[in-house]
Amino acid sequence: MKSFKDKLGRIIASLVVVFVLVVGVVGYVGWYNLFREVPIPYESYKSPEDHFKYGSIGTENAQGVPYWIWLVLPRIFPDKLPGPGGYTSLGITWEEGKETPIGFTKKTIGFPRVGITCAVCHTATYRTTQKDKPTIVAAGPSNKFDLQGYIRFLGATASDPRFTPDYILDEIKYNYQLSWVENLLYRFLIIPQTKKELLAQKESFTWMDSRPNWGPGRIDPFNPVKFNTLQLAKDDTIGNSDMMPLWNQKMHAGFALHWDGLETSLTETVQTGAIGDGATKESLPVEDLQKVEEYITQLEPPKYPFAVDEKLAAKGNQIFANTCASCHAFGGERTGTVIPVDEVGTDRHRLDMWTQEAADTYNKFAEGYPWDFNNLRKTDGYVSVSLDGLWLRAPYLHNGSVPSLQDLLEKPENRTAVFYRGYDVYDPQKVGFVSDGEEAERVGFKYDTTVTANSNQGHLYGTDLSGEEKQALIEYLKTL
Ligand code: HEC
Ligand code: HEC
Repeated sequence: MKSFKDKLGRIIASLVVVFVLVVGVVGYVGWYNLFREVPIPYESYKSPEDHFKYGSIGTENAQGVPYWIWLVLPRIFPDKLPGPGGYTSLGITWEEGKETPIGFTKKTIGFPRVGITCAVCHTATYRTTQKDKPTIVAAGPSNKFDLQGYIRFLGATASDPRFTPDYILDEIKYNYQLSWVENLLYRFLIIPQTKKELLAQKESFTWMDSRPNWGPGRIDPFNPVKFNTLQLAKDDTIGNSDMMPLWNQKMHAGFALHWDGLETSLTETVQTGAIGDGATKESLPVEDLQKVEEYITQLEPPKYPFAVDEKLAAKGNQIFANTCASCHAFGGERTGTVIPVDEVGTDRHRLDMWTQEAADTYNKFAEGYPWDFNNLRKTDGYVSVSLDGLWLRAPYLHNGSVPSLQDLLEKPENRTAVFYRGYDVYDPQKVGFVSDGEEAERVGFKYDTTVTANSNQGHLYGTDLSGEEKQALIEYLKTL
């Protein structure tokens, strides 16, 4: 009897050991394939620019799309993109030999995931002629990237009946051999979960559908923060605003940040940039973002790539000193400050989108963390931004409503009322991107200044100058 009891005891003990081992192994395999975070050290990027373009800003944990799924979606659903060329049809730039386009990371958290970075919006391209390859200018404002199109594409794929493990695994097979374990995880966990999350993301952006489209190079950056990050009640504001360049921050010390000056701290602007793009309080990589801040602080603005008439520009410099410098020159008494909207007279929708409540809530958002936000605020106007690298900031004004410098110096009633944006061939006559003609219309987004929040009114400075004076001023503006 005793020996039988002993035996039973030993069997139970072994079963417990085996059970613990199995749970441990399954747990480990699960953790390894789903949650193990593989850091990518700053030193592994070949330059600060490379880190800016491809380094993680912490968006993969909560919002990362599994790399292999992300890669095959355009191949399964080309019908849901605006044209051929996969993701590049959304104005995304893919450098030769890279695994992801500019502004997209590949980071392993259990499995490789794709996240977005600052560079997806803050990298410009231009071409001097239609046949040229685009010149890439890191930290410039993107004139092409259609974030709204990207969000809608992902949502549309998830709603399609073809978004199934069979379809997706079949397509992945042509690109990569998943292991047996990976295959199981993709089939039963990763693909169904991705579908669920993309549908939830689609749902969280339905408010966009009742407002004017953003078009390329433009987003409504703070309504998602209000509605999703801060969980404030939905309102009917329109915050569409043009991308801004990030270079030369060393010269911008003390300037208000964002079009309406809703921030005064560069460090917080960089961190809120990452939060706004999907980083969480837990995933925010404070040290890496410090590197991004150092990079944009030191980076010089790009030089105008065409010839400049120096004599004419010198004349223009005088006109600038008399009519523009007080608000736009480094050292000008109002440069980098908020100019009341009633004074500058431009479209007020972007300003009215941001509220005191939103500023207060964001200032409390990260309380208790080693980093924190304290400098968000509500203002009553738009910042008299510095004009360094101005030539590449087109189209102009906070809502991107004026295609060229030539247009900006016209009275609003004479500015171009309808144009196409998103085409990156440069027009050195008007000083801005080519915004009409067959090609611009083919690849571009029709920008209609009569649509709500697209108004091109206001900023009348310089519109009374003579034709010759305007020409000289524009020549000078090319040199900034
Ligand atoms: C999805 C597009 C997008 C991404 C990604 C993005 N930004 Fe921006 N950023 C914008 C837009 C649009 C503005 C202007 C917004 C406004 O004020 O209405 C802006 C404004 C800024 C400004 C203010 C510039 C000035 O002169 O006032 C800074 C600084 C900035 N972003 C830094 C960053 C950094 C750093 C990251 C990455 C951590 C980042 N942004 C990610 C779109 C983006
Ligand atoms: C009283 C201050 C003030 C004066 C004077 C002034 N501006 Fe501005 N400027 C602003 C403000 C404010 C904005 C932003 C308005 C907006 O985007 O709604 C702006 C925006 C601009 C922009 C758009 C920048 C971009 O990135 O899109 C250009 C270009 C510009 N100004 C050129 C000039 C020129 C040239 C002159 C002189 C003829 C001039 N400004 C005079 C206040 C001023």
